[in-house]
Amino acid sequence: MDHFTYRDNQLYCENTPVSAIAESVGTPAYVYSKQTLLDHYRAISSAFAELDPVVCYSIKSCGNLHIVRLLAEQGCGMDVVSGGEVFRAQEAGTDMSKVVYAGVGKTDDEIEQAITADIGWFNIESEAEFENIALIAQRLGKQAHGALRINPDVADARTHAKTTTGSKETKFGVDIERARRFFHAYGRNESLRLDAIHLHIGSPIYSPEPYVKAITKALELIDELRGEGFEINTIDIGGGYAADYETGASPAYTDYADAIVPLLKPFKDDGGTVILEPGRTIAANAGILLTEVQYLKQGGSKKFVICDTGMHHLIRPTLYEAWQFIWPAKVAPEHVPAKRAKDLEVDGLEISEIVGPICETGDYLAKDRPLPPVERGDLLAVFSAGAYGMVMASHYNAMPNPPEVLVDGDRFQTIRRRETYEDLVAAERV
Ligand code: LLP
Repeated sequence: MDHFTYRDNQLYCENTPVSAIAESVGTPAYVYSKQTLLDHYRAISSAFAELDPVVCYSIKSCGNLHIVRLLAEQGCGMDVVSGGEVFRAQEAGTDMSKVVYAGVGKTDDEIEQAITADIGWFNIESEAEFENIALIAQRLGKQAHGALRINPDVADARTHAKTTTGSKETKFGVDIERARRFFHAYGRNESLRLDAIHLHIGSPIYSPEPYVKAITKALELIDELRGEGFEINTIDIGGGYAADYETGASPAYTDYADAIVPLLKPFKDDGGTVILEPGRTIAANAGILLTEVQYLKQGGSKKFVICDTGMHHLIRPTLYEAWQFIWPAKVAPEHVPAKRAKDLEVDGLEISEIVGPICETGDYLAKDRPLPPVERGDLLAVFSAGAYGMVMASHYNAMPNPPEVLVDGDRFQTIRRRETYEDLVAAERV
């Protein structure tokens, strides 16, 4: 479900050959498809339409202002996790009443900034944080809204240990037992109205079942708390909806919705608000990282394809052992991929280590990867790189960050310029 296709043996983003983008802005470069972003946003909204949800795009997945603005213009809210992301949401013209703010370590300055910006909900992660936000709201003479983040102790076994959040012993949220005590202690505070429940069980979650389990527990808690007179009018079921890193591996939005909507329909019909926080599922397959092959090198039995990008621009392969499809942007007719998958049955592929220029053995984009023969100067596309790609880029080894380009049909626009060496040292000129 994206707009990256091979035509005449070369890769297009929508109606633009990616080679034309590389010629114009150079490599490496992140390239995003506007239509894919919009399609994903509309598809998830329509799958859950019966709940009329507030969809809050998770800015952390791909936070370029132009992309956030594109979604804000569609009426999309935002899920943020820092003052920097509150700022991005504001700069992009987001309706701030549709902003949810999670994160275990919000500072006083960040809290004040968010209250002043009139965000929709703070997702509250601890008692100490609740007390602090309530105090700051009171000092500012404002009333803020809080969603208690509960930890339903549900996990998807396929989610990487570094990105699972719903099990009991994480730094996120509070367990259900503690949630009851939380409401008894703070549920009647006037400066910070605790009128919502939040959960986010991890990322990615590959099937609807963990959501069903977690939401069922949350609804039981809501029933119980309502019975005690607490007014809970909103449930935020978080993000984590998967993306197709391998074709066919991810469920469709309707698979999630078919299981989740019936559960939440009574809550909705009773006047409740439902919030979703999708990030990856909107952005991942809307972007690729384009890189140029610099050198080929043999190391023992291994063939190394050395690129002009690596872990400093896309850390997912080395940080999470993530598998992302990589293929040349121009190929011989027999190497046009019929699909993107691990198990391509195509002749003439060479098993390659696709690595970057960084001074670490962990600097790789793919290991033991079948690849059509490539030469110095060839372009490679790392697919599904739109989410948690550029946002996790670093300047390690004093490498400037790549530009970002947004494609719209047969036109494209640089939405972030390539960084310069001067950018690298600018904040140090003090
Ligand atoms: N809501 C909350 C509270 C979150 O912490 C996250 C992601 C999301 C929503 C969005 O999850 P998504 O729909 O994008 O799966 N860097 C990792 C992913 C870390 C996700 C952190 N939280 C990766 O590259 O896979």
